[in-house]
Amino acid sequence: MCGSPEHQPAQPRQQGRLRTLTAAFAGALWAWLAMALLLAGLAFVIVSAQAARAGEQTGGPQAPDIGQMLTPAEIAALDRDARPDGAGLPAGAGNVAQGEDLYATHCAACHGEFAEGQGRIPALLGGEGSLNGEAPMRTIGSYWPHAPGVFDYIHRAMPEGHAFSLKAEEVYALVAYLLHINGIVEDDFIASARTLPRVMMPNRNGFIRPPHPVAKGRRCMRNCRPAPDISAEAPAQMEGVMIGEEEQTP
Ligand code: HEC
Repeated sequence: MCGSPEHQPAQPRQQGRLRTLTAAFAGALWAWLAMALLLAGLAFVIVSAQAARAGEQTGGPQAPDIGQMLTPAEIAALDRDARPDGAGLPAGAGNVAQGEDLYATHCAACHGEFAEGQGRIPALLGGEGSLNGEAPMRTIGSYWPHAPGVFDYIHRAMPEGHAFSLKAEEVYALVAYLLHINGIVEDDFIASARTLPRVMMPNRNGFIRPPHPVAKGRRCMRNCRPAPDISAEAPAQMEGVMIGEEEQTP
């Protein structure tokens, strides 16, 4: 009888309800607090992303603090690659006679008066038919498969030590001259973004694309095959040398 609900004292039950209410209130408070924190965090992320984007656009102080943002003009100055099909070749044109003068001024000191090369500096002509031989000689005439590639290389790398110093027209003229002295174009040839991709380079079929995909089969990451047995053997003529050295060292 004593344990029955009607006999339980009123006081503790009220206290219990009060405790439950307080707990519920505290719970709600935490929920609100958590929600507020979440919203504040979200707002921060959005605002900082916008600030970063604004900083990127203006190059202002909000930009990531690494290096310096390049302007579109600076990017354009660096973006000079030209592809075999001529994509990326800049506007402009140059002829063989102009190229001859430019070659004498900017290139002959290193590549030789007749582009014959000197010392370790490569020749820019000759070598036709030598690629299969004992001493292959790789030049614009014997090796290079695409004329736009010749432009691309000179425009980005030459004259050595002064790369980027020549204007597009000057490089076109140099390419016209170099193609001419290699016997690839006539002396009235004008090099430009339109004409270079059409030039038939002697070695245009000398490059082979590997069949794709190069690797076949499924990738294996575990328990693939037994560990290979790797061993090494000194060539016969080295044997005495190795032993001799070993004996000398204590
Ligand atoms: C200071 C010496 C120097 C000058 C000046 C110079 N070159 Fe070069 N050139 C080199 C060297 C060295 C190489 C080889 C670079 C390498 O293989 O990494 C080279 C490579 C080349 C090649 C690639 C040759 C090949 O078939 O691999 C071409 C094309 C070329 N130069 C064109 C020119 C032209 C055009 C000029 C003038 C505008 C010029 N060079 C001025 C030193 C020079």
